Amino acid sequence: MITFTVNGSQVECSSENKKLIAYLRDDLRLTSVKEGCGDGACGTCMVLVDGKPTRACIPAVSKLAGKNIVTVEGLSGREKEVYSYCFASAGAVQCGFCIPGMVISAKGLLDSNPEPSPGDVKKAIRGNICRCTGYVKIEEAILMAAKFLRDGAPMPKPEFTGRLGEDFFRVDAGEKTLGTGLYADDMVVDGMVYAKALRSKYPRARILGIDFSEAEKHPECIKVITAANVPGNIKCGHLVKDWDALIAVGGITRYVGDAVAIAVTGTKQALDEVLALIQVDYEELVPLTSPRESLAEGAPKIHDGGNLLSLQTLKRGNADEAIAGSKHVVTKHYSLPVTEHAFMEPECAIAMPEGEDGLLLYTGGQSIYDEQREISGLLGLHPEKVHVRSMLVGGGFGGKEDMSVQHHAALAAWIVKKPVKIKFSRQESIMIHPKRHAMEIDFTTACDENGKITAVKAEIISDTGAYASLGGPVLQRACTHAGGPYNFQHVDIVGRAAYTNNPPAGAFRGFGVTQSAFAMESNLNLLAEMAGISPWEIRYRNAIRPGQVLPNGQIADDSTAAEECLLAVKEAYDRSPYTGISCFFKNAGLGVGVPDTGRCIVSVENGKVHIRTSAACIGQGMATVTIQMACETLEVPPDMVVAEPPDTARTPNSGTTTASRQTVFTGEATVIAAKKLRAELDNQTASGQTLEEALAALEGQEFYGEFKPETDPMGSDKPFPVSHVAYGYAAQVAELDDAGRLVRLTAAYDVGTLVNPKSAESQIEGGIAMGIGYGLTEDYPLEGGYPKAKYGTLGLLRSTDMPETEIIIVKREHDPLPAAYGSKGVGELATIPTAPAIHGAYYKLDSVFRTKLPMENTYYRKKK
Ligand code: FES
Ligand code: FES
Repeated sequence: MITFTVNGSQVECSSENKKLIAYLRDDLRLTSVKEGCGDGACGTCMVLVDGKPTRACIPAVSKLAGKNIVTVEGLSGREKEVYSYCFASAGAVQCGFCIPGMVISAKGLLDSNPEPSPGDVKKAIRGNICRCTGYVKIEEAILMAAKFLRDGAPMPKPEFTGRLGEDFFRVDAGEKTLGTGLYADDMVVDGMVYAKALRSKYPRARILGIDFSEAEKHPECIKVITAANVPGNIKCGHLVKDWDALIAVGGITRYVGDAVAIAVTGTKQALDEVLALIQVDYEELVPLTSPRESLAEGAPKIHDGGNLLSLQTLKRGNADEAIAGSKHVVTKHYSLPVTEHAFMEPECAIAMPEGEDGLLLYTGGQSIYDEQREISGLLGLHPEKVHVRSMLVGGGFGGKEDMSVQHHAALAAWIVKKPVKIKFSRQESIMIHPKRHAMEIDFTTACDENGKITAVKAEIISDTGAYASLGGPVLQRACTHAGGPYNFQHVDIVGRAAYTNNPPAGAFRGFGVTQSAFAMESNLNLLAEMAGISPWEIRYRNAIRPGQVLPNGQIADDSTAAEECLLAVKEAYDRSPYTGISCFFKNAGLGVGVPDTGRCIVSVENGKVHIRTSAACIGQGMATVTIQMACETLEVPPDMVVAEPPDTARTPNSGTTTASRQTVFTGEATVIAAKKLRAELDNQTASGQTLEEALAALEGQEFYGEFKPETDPMGSDKPFPVSHVAYGYAAQVAELDDAGRLVRLTAAYDVGTLVNPKSAESQIEGGIAMGIGYGLTEDYPLEGGYPKAKYGTLGLLRSTDMPETEIIIVKREHDPLPAAYGSKGVGELATIPTAPAIHGAYYKLDSVFRTKLPMENTYYRKKK
């Protein structure tokens, strides 16, 4: 029996080999201690052991006899107040999964150094990865907390109007900072059992047989589930139903993440023991590990329909002729890598029977209605029988759009008739969910003697891996945005997405544009050189202005501020010799004629205004966005407004959190619904009632808002098709020192009407951190279809790697766009320009024109 102290109370643990994290989470139910990797690499499990920040996933309980452990739950009331206030005030909380660990590292620092320098703070949180914020606001929060704790000043009581443009505190900041907000893995349900899938041993192999007779003899085994047990359609997939929930005997696996069987056990610990007893007889087959191989004549078919998932073309004008007649022409081949989302919260879901013939799922995905549809198909149920509720989501970035754990948890719960939890280990997460597409791009760009772009021609081949996921639309966005935010009319882009036996690729912040932007922007620097002008100048001369026509044929609307973004970073560009620049754009919404709807119900309940929408908050602050939209419309204080979490029984389908769409689509749906309530409130108050009385009179009433703008499909014969309802624009300047160290990133953003300045800045900073990783450090090596990365080797940016940042929000004076008060969304655009800006800076520093990411032979990464 090991005795030690946790948060001031003496505790005893009899399982000496148990990891501290398991004891704290499972036995003591301390939910601030998060399990991000289980491997000492992420810092989400940070606790103090005798005052020293320590990763709780490392030590076994046997090493802790007599020690004093402190988690966020054990902070003093004053400390809790200070940290919650400072993290909210600084805008330091997004998905929140890293934040309690950050608080512990901060406390470890401030207890011994009450007046730290910014550098001290950076160092103190070096062991804590944050994938959302870029660390800037977290460091500000810790410095602010240090001051409050030093001075003993009373905590301010901020008063908010909740109106647009105000730094209204995120409504979830407090619970995320203190670790009381619940993510799926924080939930424990009476009678809950556990499940885990056995994955294919080979990327491509025929399953000849599955023998689980020994597995079912294990005392903790409740059931082994195979494809034969699936009651409905075994094929999943939001857009293309090609993803087998389980590979059946006789079937061929398509990647090493394919599930072959699912073990359901009474304890978590028994899962691997039971899986080890399942015998699978494979006939190993040669995998196809590149699109060139899979598209080659005679290649074996990965899916019945062949290996070409999608062919996309964007053709306007006559690019060949324009290129032939141009003064300067650049052609380059670019290789862009697979990247891993590395959201901090590994996938987790809990499913359980509900009522006589229904199912309830607690999830942390990007769309509860997609999950409802997939699961009802798998189980052969009417969708209304599948009730889906979202817990907090610890980051997604596109990587939680597809089924990962949800469908398996639902299947297991349906079969064993018990609550079932499935949680991915970090290694499973790295192996299984769809990644950013690797792309090979041949890119030709031409200009005249003045540096005016005349044409772009490109061929893009993307590796969509084993399953379609969102590979078609991702490729489409890579093509539609390849010409950049510039004004020229001859464009010829052909894209192909091919299935391979690599892990699937799907949505990832930037959605294909990250890749084609890198090619376009890098080529532009060479054209500038040939034309004898600077990289800033060539962008300025070509930047799209309102009323001009984008290469995809859409007329730029009045809000378009690409020019203003470039002007805003000009000084930063001219400041030092080693600066690189990039200017880009990104759509809001699915666009190109795809039905896309934002929905919201505003209801009056217990005297408060409830906003009900299924739009998932994956860190971007959806609840805060809808509250600010409602406050702006209703002119009521934010404490009278409640944003409900997504729940298929309460909140209407507002589509997936993808394509930077939610601020515009669900934002506008909220505005529409709130305007209807406003009209009723105005009627009541006009007759002399107070707001409270008016709300009481409307108790129980619901007001529905739906926003469903039309866009034109790809290949539309309209002369100027409207591909997307809105575009945001940005310019970034990267600055290197003589040693090649990235010292400053200046970013100017046109995001339309600002909803919450701090949130927007924090998203941009986080996007920049991700873009730096994409350009310089992140890698997801694959060998023969086998992923080789671990969380600690992904190359994720740490606090000490982050350069100084300056965020400039620019806006053109114009009549606001018609939706969501003119907001445009910023999620994806935050990442897109960073890698090409850094590329340009390195080109100036060492004259080496790099064509692969992550860039090699830099301060950050030596040549392999
Ligand atoms: S869970 Fe302990 S360091 Fe990641
Ligand atoms: S807020 Fe840090 S990982 Fe999401």
